[in-house]
Amino acid sequence: MKEQLPQTCERPLLEQFLKAEAIALALVRATQARDVPPGVLAFLRRHEEEEVRHLQQFEEMLGTTSTRPATLPRVPSEWCVLAVYLYGYESLGLQFARLLMIVRPDLSSILKDEEGHAKFFETEVCRILSHGGEAAEKTRQAALAWRRRLPPTVDRYLRDEAFAPFRDDLRRSMLEAIDERFAGVGLCEEQKF
Ligand SMILES: [Fe+2]
Repeated sequence: MKEQLPQTCERPLLEQFLKAEAIALALVRATQARDVPPGVLAFLRRHEEEEVRHLQQFEEMLGTTSTRPATLPRVPSEWCVLAVYLYGYESLGLQFARLLMIVRPDLSSILKDEEGHAKFFETEVCRILSHGGEAAEKTRQAALAWRRRLPPTVDRYLRDEAFAPFRDDLRRSMLEAIDERFAGVGLCEEQKF
């Protein structure tokens, strides 16, 4: 990950966060309506509160409001697939939180929350994988499918002109960080992509 970014990247990063947090919030809300293991629901409620707080912080900093989806997104009904999606999404959010810290080190509480979110879903994914069988296989397949769709998402997030001189580096380091994380928990081998 880059250690330096110019201040011109601050606003696009905040704007991107605003959008991403609105999506994260909708995902977390939709997940609560699913059949999730005991313990997950309590975390999701806390997670929801944290994402609401982040969203308000970004709205205040930018002086705008985010577009809230009128309906909740459709999320997979199977917990093993949903857990991978949430894990991937939070891992991506964490990469952006790290970028944001370069230009806004005062927002470190957001980074801490995002680390907690990614870690929680990582533990859930590891639990599913440790039981083996069909659920573990489905989880790995879901991770591959999610990972294949990731590059265009990262490109969209880095679309702003301010990122142009760093775009290739940022894109590569984000994808590598997620591959490393997925490979580290045994979700997939890095060379598969
Ligand atoms: Fe999060």
